[in-house]
Amino acid sequence: MSAATDSNLFQKLGLKYPLIVAPMAGGPSSVDLVAAASTAGALGAMGGAYSSATAIETFVNAVRDRTDKPFSINLFIPHSIPEVAQEPLARATQATARYRTELELPAPQLAPPYEEDFDSQFEAVLRLKPACFSFVFGLLSSDHVSAAKKADIPLIGTATTFEEAKALEDSGVDAVTLQGFEAGGHRGIFDAHADDPKIGLRELLAQCAGKLGVPLIAAGGIMTAADVRAALQAGAQAVQMGTAFLVSTEAGTSAPYRKKLLEAPERKTRTTRAFSGRFARGIENRFMDEMEGKADAILPFPAQNKFTRDMRGASTAKGSPDFLSLWAGTGKGELWQGSTAALIERLFEA
Ligand SMILES: Cc1cc2nc3c(=O)[nH]c(=O)nc-3n(C[C@H](O)[C@H](O)[C@H](O)COP(=O)(O)O)c2cc1C
Repeated sequence: MSAATDSNLFQKLGLKYPLIVAPMAGGPSSVDLVAAASTAGALGAMGGAYSSATAIETFVNAVRDRTDKPFSINLFIPHSIPEVAQEPLARATQATARYRTELELPAPQLAPPYEEDFDSQFEAVLRLKPACFSFVFGLLSSDHVSAAKKADIPLIGTATTFEEAKALEDSGVDAVTLQGFEAGGHRGIFDAHADDPKIGLRELLAQCAGKLGVPLIAAGGIMTAADVRAALQAGAQAVQMGTAFLVSTEAGTSAPYRKKLLEAPERKTRTTRAFSGRFARGIENRFMDEMEGKADAILPFPAQNKFTRDMRGASTAKGSPDFLSLWAGTGKGELWQGSTAALIERLFEA
């Protein structure tokens, strides 16, 4: 596919603004947020990673009841099922025992599968035919790429290094999201066990702009109209923003998470493996702090994600941020609490 065709991807989608309101699986990307973003002229994105094929279908139908504008679906590239031996499980159980007591939870029962079945999720995507399909954590298999092309669904992969971006381009994607170290949520690093390359967005854009034939989408720490302009000037064809929309009216962010996001404009974030077994950036909290230095009590992704799910759920139900994954990027300042449409307009005001 030629670069000229690729760079028209966002025009082809008929977007008013070169903005993707980030897929944020686990609650924030509600039906209302996706529909509001797309209706306002950006690309809304469903974070479908933790949803079954049926749930994805229900969600997409609800978005389509609200808008006929384009939106995307986002999934996690599946991981090989990690071997969880007795010993590490015992260490993880012991390290979290007092939290489960505090949250009045029974002892954990961990068994595979640790994540949703990707093939059935992907089949739902093919059936539902969103305007785009985006993914994170690696490359889509060539069979999946061919199936998406046959169904005429453009593909967007996620990269944290130039090498990952190049591999995505070579695999046939239509655009690449460059995720800087500033970004909230999971780091898109292909290798779940690798160290974090920690490349900031500005540097990543400088490494990739002009060297790839596919359009680049800049993500990580973009909060203001000036940030958007800077990313576009640095060679991105579009931006992807998550944190900035987390407390907008339509976001499905839970009450204790919202409260924590609003508590201090100087949100202190760092990356941790404690919640899911993969690096992700979030606001510092008790669980993150107390699991620090206990790498041998953290199971591999996605087993750890399933292992901590009961604690995260109970923490939300209690209205406590202590055991929640409070994903957020490094961007500072008070967050927009009005409508998604109004924030989008402000970001592109002349
Ligand atoms: C709460 C939250 C959940 C996220 N979930 C996903 C996801 O499911 N899929 C994905 O590709 N990216 C996910 N991300 C990462 C975003 O796509 C994007 O890289 C990030 O939000 C950009 O940085 P920012 O938050 O500073 O704007 C998530 C980010 C946040 C804040």
